[in-house]
Amino acid sequence: MPASTNYRATASAPSNIAIVKYWGKQGVQEPVNPSISFTLSKALTHTTIDYRPGPEALTIEFLFEGWPKDSFLPKLNALTRRLVQHLPYLEKGHLRIESSNTFPHSSGIASSASSMASIAKVLVEIQQQLSATKDSEINHEQISELARLGSGSACRSTLPGWVLWGETEALASSSNRFGVSINEVIHPTFKDLQDTILVIRKGAKSVSSTTGHQLMENHPYREGRIDQANRNIKKLLNSLKEGNFNTFAEVCEEEALSLHGLMMSSSPGYTLMAPESLRAIRRIQKFREHHHVPLTYTLDAGPNIHLIYPKAQRKILEPFIREHLQPLCDNQEVINDELSID
Ligand code: DP6
Repeated sequence: MPASTNYRATASAPSNIAIVKYWGKQGVQEPVNPSISFTLSKALTHTTIDYRPGPEALTIEFLFEGWPKDSFLPKLNALTRRLVQHLPYLEKGHLRIESSNTFPHSSGIASSASSMASIAKVLVEIQQQLSATKDSEINHEQISELARLGSGSACRSTLPGWVLWGETEALASSSNRFGVSINEVIHPTFKDLQDTILVIRKGAKSVSSTTGHQLMENHPYREGRIDQANRNIKKLLNSLKEGNFNTFAEVCEEEALSLHGLMMSSSPGYTLMAPESLRAIRRIQKFREHHHVPLTYTLDAGPNIHLIYPKAQRKILEPFIREHLQPLCDNQEVINDELSID
């Protein structure tokens, strides 16, 4: 292989939204509890990587939306160090990584999931170019595992639709190392879910997910949380199979509120909801009580709200969102996304 040969590959990956939340890690980026999410369609990260082989230890250059972003380098260095045993070329040479998102920054969409999943796909593609095995089949488990080493939730972004990550007795093929598709058991009610993101506050989170996961290590409710997540996985899987929206909504909201409860009761504690988040939740509950529509919500580790509902409800929900929820949002910003079909 001539040292002057450069290698280039490009890939995209979507973000995902968890219904049962991954919160707490063990070992090398393995979860303390199983989680289930659905992958989105529109919120994507596009990544292009140029790899220049060389004799020196690996160096990395990262550009985000055309500009150098050195704050992401520690995460990338940690990722490539972990990946060397899977992708030996990452020991030496130079990587120029360029990423861009199709969605606004700090809007409540998990960019580390789409970003790390797209980077993992590209790094595997470069390995294939280097070893001239380009035509060999891409192993989804391997890509998911490599994405996980960058960001836990990223391992659920390497597959479309519904994905389960983490060992559970409810699914024999489940693994702590990679995400597995559960699309084949999903009732039609849950195959076209919409995710309307209410951007309550735009801007950096006051606590990173990585810090949040660490807070679970000595959390007083740690064991209770692990039990709760395992119970909710079973309950959620049953509701997804049976098409039972009420049970689905129960799990969805219990998980979102528990995540925030766990953060509040951490040491130090964090209050990540804004007054408008609570107001939006109240309005969603009232609307549902009056109109009996299948509608639920979830939140990640921040104030923004993901409204979740089947596509058929869009017409009845549009005016409610516009008149009663959009005014609670930062600059009236709402982002419409949906579950990816394939
Ligand atoms: C609240 O995957 O962002 O969104 O593994 O440290 O990168 P790292 O954390 P990350 O955590 C996501 C936490 C969550 C819940 C979830 O997506 O399951």
